[in-house]
Amino acid sequence: MRIAVAVSGGGSNLQALLDSLPAAGPAKIALVVSNTPKAGGLARAESRGVTTAVFRDFSSAEEWLALLEGHGIELIVLAGYLKLVPAPVIAKFRGRIVNVHPALLPAFGGPGMYGKRVHEAVIAAGAVESGCTVHLVDEAYDRGEILAQARVPVLPGDTAESLAARVLIAEHQLLPKVVLDLAARITRAS
Ligand code: GRF
Repeated sequence: MRIAVAVSGGGSNLQALLDSLPAAGPAKIALVVSNTPKAGGLARAESRGVTTAVFRDFSSAEEWLALLEGHGIELIVLAGYLKLVPAPVIAKFRGRIVNVHPALLPAFGGPGMYGKRVHEAVIAAGAVESGCTVHLVDEAYDRGEILAQARVPVLPGDTAESLAARVLIAEHQLLPKVVLDLAARITRAS
């Protein structure tokens, strides 16, 4: 199973995937794509010898599909990817694109709910727990079928930063597990 990972930022979730899915295993990271050359995830991929690409136009379905097809990609992971995936790509990869979101969806998701804002909203709401969600991607932000969640406490005195750090640890554990499960499920079904 050849997996593409899309990143926009530091890429710690990508790192967790690279560490958990060895190139010799049944599922491997074959391509890392980004909307920006500044994404730290690109360097993490390159240091492992994984092919990387930066979109000339991240809203171009043709560009996405040419890259994915050119690398024989069967499953896409959005790991801190902040742009909308073009609809024809979602249609072509339906059930084979997952996203990790740093809150317990359906709460604290949707347009504009990313990064620090998610954790600020959780704290402002007085929630006593938060966590992360891995879900299938459809045409709306953060709306696809939920595959798995992990919970963490919100502690008194938490800031968006301290809560984000706790949630991120949970993401690093949950995401590779769910990606492996989904890869196995797709393989069995094909
Ligand atoms: C993660 O919290 C992810 O859920 C969110 O953005 C953050 C990305 O972190 N979408 P990283 O780039 O994987 O370090």
